[in-house]
Amino acid sequence: MIRVEGVSKTFEQRGGAGYTALDDIAFEVGKGEFVSILGPSGCGKSTLLNLVAGLERADKGRVEVSGKKVNAPGPDRIVVFQDHALYPWLTVLENVAFGLKQKRIKKEERHERAMEQIRAVHLGKFADRYPHELSGGMKQRVAIARALVMDPEILLMDEPFAALDEQTRLLLHKELEQIWLNTGKTILFITHNIREAVTLSDRVLVMSTRPGRIKKEFRVQAARPREAGDSLLHHIESQIMNTLAAELAKVAKEEYGDDYNLEKSPLSHSAVSNLGDGI
Ligand SMILES: Nc1ncnc2c1ncn2[C@@H]1O[C@H](COP(=O)(O)OP(=O)(O)O)[C@@H](O)[C@H]1O
Ligand SMILES: [Mg+2]
Repeated sequence: MIRVEGVSKTFEQRGGAGYTALDDIAFEVGKGEFVSILGPSGCGKSTLLNLVAGLERADKGRVEVSGKKVNAPGPDRIVVFQDHALYPWLTVLENVAFGLKQKRIKKEERHERAMEQIRAVHLGKFADRYPHELSGGMKQRVAIARALVMDPEILLMDEPFAALDEQTRLLLHKELEQIWLNTGKTILFITHNIREAVTLSDRVLVMSTRPGRIKKEFRVQAARPREAGDSLLHHIESQIMNTLAAELAKVAKEEYGDDYNLEKSPLSHSAVSNLGDGI
């Protein structure tokens, strides 16, 4: 379904050599698969997602969706961002129906289709509310409904839950898993949170930084729906942490010199779930 082959991307830097954000990235996502790209902030995750979305162009390599080269955004791929970007002057129903209105679908049909998706994210009672009347988690659920109503084959999600508190995030994991199980959509999900990646995904691709590469792939063959206490999930989480600890040590060595010792470093305690401001 999604195929990325030998993709590199360099950004111009003011007065200096280019900055290689992505170097020789290759992976595939099968139809109906849930795949996460996990990595520390700045490693090139959003750049990679934008390439698949058709919002950026690769310098080298090829991005294909359903066998066709990606040159531009398309209706088969919809991006859900961290910042929900709902229109504040429209109600939940109007926000979700907005894309259908642009496609000139009649009001009755678009409201019917929008309500179906609003109910799928359990916001049926809030259809007439405005975004400022909703919690952060509810706004993200509206953003998901707004993407689903266009019925894309692929959802591209760029840290959609990163700004939410832990409780809300856990609820949304359940909700997204259920949506995925019910709809069979292909999902490419970006996150810097190890637990989130493992809980949600069939496969987790762990990225290294400077330049961004895919370092290792982890297959998560735990039963669905996933249970928080599943020991397989915990096992894979700790394997990923070990992989990233090696990455942390590498980066720290570059910065601190050869006598750097990970065990004695405060950094070793930060090699936990959240990589947001880590390496
Ligand atoms: N348009 C751009 N111009 C210059 N540099 C960019 C641009 N977009 C991203 N970068 C740089 O590329 C690297 C990867 O960025 P990004 O893909 O946003 O990382 P992530 O999403 O993993 O945090 C960062 O160092 C960032 O500063
Ligand atoms: Mg990003």
